[in-house]
Amino acid sequence: MRRIPQTLLALSLGIAIPVSVQASGDALVKEGAKIFKTKNLGNCISCHAANGKTLDGPGSLGPKLTGLSAWPEKALHDKIYDPYTTNPISAMPPFGKNGWLDEHQIQALVAYLKTIN
Ligand code: HEC
Repeated sequence: MRRIPQTLLALSLGIAIPVSVQASGDALVKEGAKIFKTKNLGNCISCHAANGKTLDGPGSLGPKLTGLSAWPEKALHDKIYDPYTTNPISAMPPFGKNGWLDEHQIQALVAYLKTIN
Protein backbone atom coordinates (compact mmCIF):
# COMPACT_ATOMS: atom_id res chain seq x y z
CA MET A 1 0.00 0.00 0.00
CA ARG A 2 2.90 2.41 0.70
CA ARG A 3 4.24 2.03 -2.86
CA ILE A 4 1.28 3.67 -4.57
CA PRO A 5 1.83 7.22 -3.35
CA GLN A 6 5.52 7.00 -4.40
CA THR A 7 4.54 5.99 -7.93
CA LEU A 8 2.11 8.85 -8.09
CA LEU A 9 4.81 11.23 -6.87
CA ALA A 10 7.21 10.06 -9.60
CA LEU A 11 4.52 10.51 -12.25
CA SER A 12 3.62 13.97 -11.07
CA LEU A 13 7.31 14.99 -11.04
CA GLY A 14 7.61 13.80 -14.64
CA ILE A 15 4.82 16.18 -15.57
CA ALA A 16 6.01 19.01 -13.36
CA ILE A 17 9.47 19.35 -14.94
CA PRO A 18 8.48 20.49 -18.48
CA VAL A 19 5.84 22.81 -17.01
CA SER A 20 8.41 24.53 -14.79
CA VAL A 21 10.80 25.00 -17.74
CA GLN A 22 8.02 26.80 -19.61
CA ALA A 23 7.26 28.93 -16.57
CA SER A 24 10.89 29.96 -16.14
CA GLY A 25 10.98 31.13 -19.79
CA ASP A 26 7.98 33.36 -19.16
CA ALA A 27 9.48 34.54 -15.88
CA LEU A 28 12.67 35.54 -17.74
CA VAL A 29 10.65 37.59 -20.26
CA LYS A 30 8.83 39.34 -17.39
CA GLU A 31 12.10 40.03 -15.61
CA GLY A 32 13.54 41.48 -18.84
CA ALA A 33 10.50 43.71 -19.34
CA LYS A 34 10.96 45.00 -15.81
CA ILE A 35 14.67 45.72 -16.32
CA PHE A 36 13.75 47.53 -19.56
CA LYS A 37 11.43 49.90 -17.70
CA THR A 38 13.16 50.31 -14.35
CA LYS A 39 15.16 53.46 -13.85
CA ASN A 40 18.10 52.14 -11.83
CA LEU A 41 18.35 48.94 -13.92
CA GLY A 42 18.29 49.01 -17.75
CA ASN A 43 16.16 52.13 -18.09
CA CYS A 44 16.01 51.31 -21.81
CA ILE A 45 12.61 53.04 -21.94
CA SER A 46 14.40 56.38 -21.41
CA CYS A 47 15.68 56.10 -25.00
CA HIS A 48 13.52 53.44 -26.68
CA ALA A 49 9.83 52.94 -27.25
CA ALA A 50 8.87 49.28 -27.58
CA ASN A 51 5.79 47.24 -28.47
CA GLY A 52 3.92 50.32 -29.66
CA LYS A 53 4.25 52.13 -26.35
CA THR A 54 5.21 55.78 -26.56
CA LEU A 55 8.07 57.21 -24.59
CA ASP A 56 7.24 58.63 -21.20
CA GLY A 57 10.07 61.04 -20.64
CA PRO A 58 12.47 63.37 -22.41
CA GLY A 59 14.54 60.76 -24.18
CA SER A 60 13.92 59.65 -27.73
CA LEU A 61 17.59 59.24 -28.49
CA GLY A 62 17.30 55.61 -29.55
CA PRO A 63 15.18 54.19 -32.38
CA LYS A 64 11.77 52.68 -31.69
CA LEU A 65 12.49 48.98 -31.24
CA THR A 66 10.70 46.78 -33.78
CA GLY A 67 11.33 43.45 -35.49
CA LEU A 68 13.72 42.27 -32.78
CA SER A 69 12.19 38.77 -32.71
CA ALA A 70 14.06 38.23 -36.00
CA TRP A 71 17.44 39.14 -34.49
CA PRO A 72 19.75 36.29 -33.40
CA GLU A 73 20.07 36.13 -29.60
CA LYS A 74 23.81 36.74 -29.84
CA ALA A 75 23.32 39.99 -31.78
CA LEU A 76 20.87 41.25 -29.13
CA HIS A 77 23.21 40.19 -26.35
CA ASP A 78 26.19 41.96 -27.96
CA LYS A 79 24.17 45.12 -28.60
CA ILE A 80 23.34 45.37 -24.89
CA TYR A 81 26.77 44.24 -23.70
CA ASP A 82 28.67 46.73 -25.87
CA PRO A 83 26.97 48.56 -28.77
CA TYR A 84 30.32 50.03 -29.90
CA THR A 85 31.31 46.67 -31.39
CA THR A 86 28.74 47.19 -34.18
CA ASN A 87 28.48 50.99 -34.03
CA PRO A 88 31.60 52.83 -32.78
CA ILE A 89 29.71 56.12 -32.43
CA SER A 90 26.62 54.67 -30.74
CA ALA A 91 24.90 56.91 -28.20
CA MET A 92 23.83 53.78 -26.33
CA PRO A 93 25.94 52.96 -23.28
CA PRO A 94 27.67 49.55 -22.95
CA PHE A 95 25.55 48.08 -20.15
CA GLY A 96 27.50 44.83 -19.86
CA LYS A 97 31.00 46.22 -20.30
CA ASN A 98 30.26 48.99 -17.79
CA GLY A 99 29.13 46.39 -15.25
CA TRP A 100 25.66 47.97 -14.94
CA LEU A 101 23.87 44.73 -15.85
CA ASP A 102 25.08 41.21 -15.11
CA GLU A 103 24.94 38.28 -17.52
CA HIS A 104 21.63 37.02 -16.10
CA GLN A 105 20.00 40.45 -16.49
CA ILE A 106 21.24 40.70 -20.09
CA GLN A 107 19.81 37.23 -20.82
CA ALA A 108 16.46 38.36 -19.36
CA LEU A 109 16.51 41.46 -21.59
CA VAL A 110 17.31 39.31 -24.64
CA ALA A 111 14.35 37.03 -23.80
CA TYR A 112 12.11 40.12 -23.57
CA LEU A 113 13.47 41.75 -26.76
CA LYS A 114 12.81 38.48 -28.66
CA THR A 115 9.08 39.07 -27.98
CA ILE A 116 9.14 42.44 -29.83
CA ASN A 117 7.83 42.14 -33.39
C1 HEC B 1 21.14 56.82 -23.89
C2 HEC B 1 20.13 56.26 -24.74
C3 HEC B 1 20.00 54.76 -24.84
C4 HEC B 1 19.73 53.88 -23.83
C5 HEC B 1 19.59 54.15 -22.34
C6 HEC B 1 19.57 52.58 -24.46
N1 HEC B 1 19.76 52.68 -25.80
FE1 HEC B 1 19.56 51.18 -27.17
N2 HEC B 1 20.10 52.45 -28.66
C7 HEC B 1 20.36 53.81 -28.51
C8 HEC B 1 20.73 54.37 -29.81
C9 HEC B 1 21.11 55.83 -30.08
C10 HEC B 1 20.68 53.30 -30.75
C11 HEC B 1 20.97 53.38 -32.27
C12 HEC B 1 22.44 53.30 -32.50
C13 HEC B 1 22.97 51.91 -32.38
O1 HEC B 1 22.42 50.98 -32.99
O2 HEC B 1 23.95 51.71 -31.66
C14 HEC B 1 20.27 52.11 -30.00
C15 HEC B 1 20.07 50.87 -30.55
C16 HEC B 1 19.55 49.76 -29.87
C17 HEC B 1 19.22 48.50 -30.50
C18 HEC B 1 19.31 48.20 -31.98
C19 HEC B 1 18.00 48.65 -32.63
C20 HEC B 1 17.98 48.56 -34.12
O3 HEC B 1 16.86 48.44 -34.66
O4 HEC B 1 19.06 48.61 -34.75
C21 HEC B 1 18.77 47.67 -29.52
C22 HEC B 1 18.30 46.24 -29.66
C23 HEC B 1 18.83 48.40 -28.27
N3 HEC B 1 19.31 49.67 -28.53
C24 HEC B 1 18.46 47.90 -27.04
C25 HEC B 1 18.58 48.61 -25.85
C26 HEC B 1 18.32 48.03 -24.54
C27 HEC B 1 17.87 46.61 -24.28
C28 HEC B 1 18.58 49.00 -23.62
C29 HEC B 1 18.52 48.92 -22.11
C30 HEC B 1 19.45 47.99 -21.48
C31 HEC B 1 18.97 50.20 -24.36
N4 HEC B 1 18.97 49.92 -25.69
C32 HEC B 1 19.27 51.41 -23.76
C33 HEC B 1 20.28 54.52 -27.34
C34 HEC B 1 20.02 54.00 -26.08
